[in-house]
Amino acid sequence: MLILGIETSCDETAAAVVEKTAAGFVVRANVVASQVKIHARYGGVVPEVAARNHVGKIIPVIDAALKTAKVKPAQLDRIAVTVGPGLITSLLVGVQTAQALAMVWRKPLIPVNHLRAHIYAAWMPDIGKLRITHYALRSGKNSQSVIRNSKIIQFPVIALVVSGGHTELVLMNQAHHFRLLGQTLDDAAGEAFDKVATMLGLPYPGGPALAALADCGDPRAVCFPRPLAKRRDSNFSFSGLKTAVRYYLRDHRTRGRALADVAASFQAAVVDSLVPKTVAAARQHQAKTVILGGGVAANHALRRELGLAVAALGADFRVPDFADCTDNAAMIATAGWFGQAKDWRKIRVDANRPIDAR
Ligand code: KG4
Ligand code: ZN
Repeated sequence: MLILGIETSCDETAAAVVEKTAAGFVVRANVVASQVKIHARYGGVVPEVAARNHVGKIIPVIDAALKTAKVKPAQLDRIAVTVGPGLITSLLVGVQTAQALAMVWRKPLIPVNHLRAHIYAAWMPDIGKLRITHYALRSGKNSQSVIRNSKIIQFPVIALVVSGGHTELVLMNQAHHFRLLGQTLDDAAGEAFDKVATMLGLPYPGGPALAALADCGDPRAVCFPRPLAKRRDSNFSFSGLKTAVRYYLRDHRTRGRALADVAASFQAAVVDSLVPKTVAAARQHQAKTVILGGGVAANHALRRELGLAVAALGADFRVPDFADCTDNAAMIATAGWFGQAKDWRKIRVDANRPIDAR
């Protein structure tokens, strides 16, 4: 089965072609046109600007995905598109494009929940070589990478989704079943990374820049709070931690190495807030697999610490390759295989779509 995936929930215009074979998922093309440089000058994503750029890029990106995959529209079995959560004006571009293609090409259209797709990213690819194409529309430059193989995922699954807008702990008893166990009560983990990065004077997008700086620092240099760590529920909180960093920077002279120490200590506090609760949920629900997904899953320290803790528990740890953690359409196409087709006329964007929505 050949699935075209389309993703425009935030500031990446993305299209991918994923093939589901008896042996697993093969990513035939994965094209991402990022708007990072455009939004960098504003220090964050400007929804109106993002939507306008999606409009200009969506067709060339879909065209590039089909060409890279060497797939003609007639060969496609389905189209999968992100319907939410995300920025409403950005989502509309992808959904309306997908509706038009589904109508003209007469293909089933699958609405995809973006957060679920971050989890389904752990399923790809079971076999074959994954080619990621970072598609720079202006320069026409392509760069490609090859990603490792993986084995079958066993249930129950505990999934931690950590992105720019969400931090959620989810139980999956089967591939279609999502139960929200807990979530952030205020900022998302990625949002905290981005805001603290700004406080440290780092360039946008802050998360990866902060993580790179943290590599040079001492994670034990400053003892920042681990909010809600002692509570037995599965909820998280990052706004107090963010404020603690702000006060620390106000009260201490921090330059050079000291800045790296603050970055490393903040990152350690985020990791310590996320890992024990995820492990506790895995133990409680006797999870066979723990999945880490979302943009913050690209963080080395989080991957390492959660991976070690899950291994100690005896469960299987799955995290997508680095490039598949941040927004892309291969994860949307993969999610499209698990999803159900809906009449294209009835598909609506849903900016606040919960992960456990029916
Ligand atoms: O999933 P994603 O690409 O977009 C949303 O769905 O929100 O996640 C983006 C978030 C941003 O907050 C970004 O700063 C963060 O993921 N991020 C990271 C790293 N790479 C991306 N945070 C920490 N360390 C990283 N290496
Ligand atoms: Zn995302």
